[in-house]
Amino acid sequence: MPGRRAARRDTTTREITGCTVTVCRGCCCGTVGKHPDVDHAGQVEALRAGIGDAGRVRVSDCLDACERSNVMVVGPSPDGRRAGAKPTWLAGVLHPDTVGDVVEWVRAGGPGVEDPPGILDLSTFAPSRKQRQEAGEL
Ligand code: FES
Repeated sequence: MPGRRAARRDTTTREITGCTVTVCRGCCCGTVGKHPDVDHAGQVEALRAGIGDAGRVRVSDCLDACERSNVMVVGPSPDGRRAGAKPTWLAGVLHPDTVGDVVEWVRAGGPGVEDPPGILDLSTFAPSRKQRQEAGEL
């Protein structure tokens, strides 16, 4: 059935056009032991629901920046990369408003396309080379 094959092929070759948000959920980020008053699972759900088809959300193991938990990294879209943007690392993402700012930023185009909304830029930090290597390509 040609139509069925074509549909299957389309889903496997679909190009990623938006930003990628990497949510650290290692030994510290996302744990009630370190941040007992945060709805960590709810953060991931809010990101996925808010970003929808405008990007993708993935969960990673420890990004080696535990002292800054909860850590998230917003990887630029292809357009953002062409504009010279690099992944933006965010520290202390604990409040729902901060998660909302991440959603808003990704939906607006993210790094290299739009400036971060609100006070989100105050959460950014420059990771060490080791941290970038541990994280791989974001
Ligand atoms: S658990 Fe997130 S940086 Fe280590």
